[in-house]
Amino acid sequence: MTDTPGLEVDRVVKRFGGLQVFHDVSFSLRPGEVLGVIGPNGAGKTTLINVLCGRFPPSAGSVSLDGKSITGLPTHRLARMGLVRSFQQTNTFKSASVRENLSRALRFSGAPMRVVERVDALLRQFDLHPRLDEPSDKLPYGLQKMLGLLLAYATGPKVLLLDEPAAGLERRERTLIDAFVAAARADHGCSVLIVEHDMDLIRRLCPRILVLDAGHLIAEGPPAEVLARRDVIEAYMGLSDEDEAA
Ligand SMILES: Nc1ncnc2c1ncn2[C@@H]1O[C@H](COP(=O)(O)OP(=O)(O)OP(=O)(O)O)[C@@H](O)[C@H]1O
Ligand SMILES: [Mg+2]
Repeated sequence: MTDTPGLEVDRVVKRFGGLQVFHDVSFSLRPGEVLGVIGPNGAGKTTLINVLCGRFPPSAGSVSLDGKSITGLPTHRLARMGLVRSFQQTNTFKSASVRENLSRALRFSGAPMRVVERVDALLRQFDLHPRLDEPSDKLPYGLQKMLGLLLAYATGPKVLLLDEPAAGLERRERTLIDAFVAAARADHGCSVLIVEHDMDLIRRLCPRILVLDAGHLIAEGPPAEVLARRDVIEAYMGLSDEDEAA
């Protein structure tokens, strides 16, 4: 990690019409850090990623990257600055082959040799290598998601925002996410924000986590500490005093 500021989110608010999805969310993602974001369904986690990657502008507040304001910039400009997201579903160019998808992402980054080599190694690790010429939308769901991660990697990100990378994956595929995050950090020095419901993955990969509940950040700290907090258990597990008394 370095002393540069990384991604700074300051009192960000998002409203859709009368619905306020989150309220005064502030946190920072330091260079090289892997930060987990957890919270119950509907807490606003995907919306947070959508706002950070420029899909929707924030309703209030500001976001900066390495000290420069990026508030309200559109997705393609943020991608050029190295801020890239993966999707809760999948994010490949549907009818294009695995190879074509990767070529586009590599062209975007200028395809430095070490990135090309790592993409090749990850393709083999993810069992995607034999499928290079298949249309990406015909791949099994897990492989589509792994390809989505590879595409994000191949663009050469500075900040990676991953929305539920483990959702819908088998146990073996889930452990490959660890190798993926390690490669992204080693090769690009990037920081990673991971939204995830898989607490094993969160514990393995994230030294620090944030908890979003109904649009409010209610806790922040190391997973062992945060996941033991009563307010977090109640928010996340939907446990009430009555449940506990029963
Ligand atoms: N484009 C939109 N227009 C209106 N409301 C939206 C929009 N996107 C999200 N919302 C609302 O924002 C709230 C938070 O949704 P979001 O998808 O961010 O939750 P989440 O924390 O990612 O949940 P999950 O864990 O189920 O993925 C929900 O009430 C959702 O209906
Ligand atoms: Mg979501």
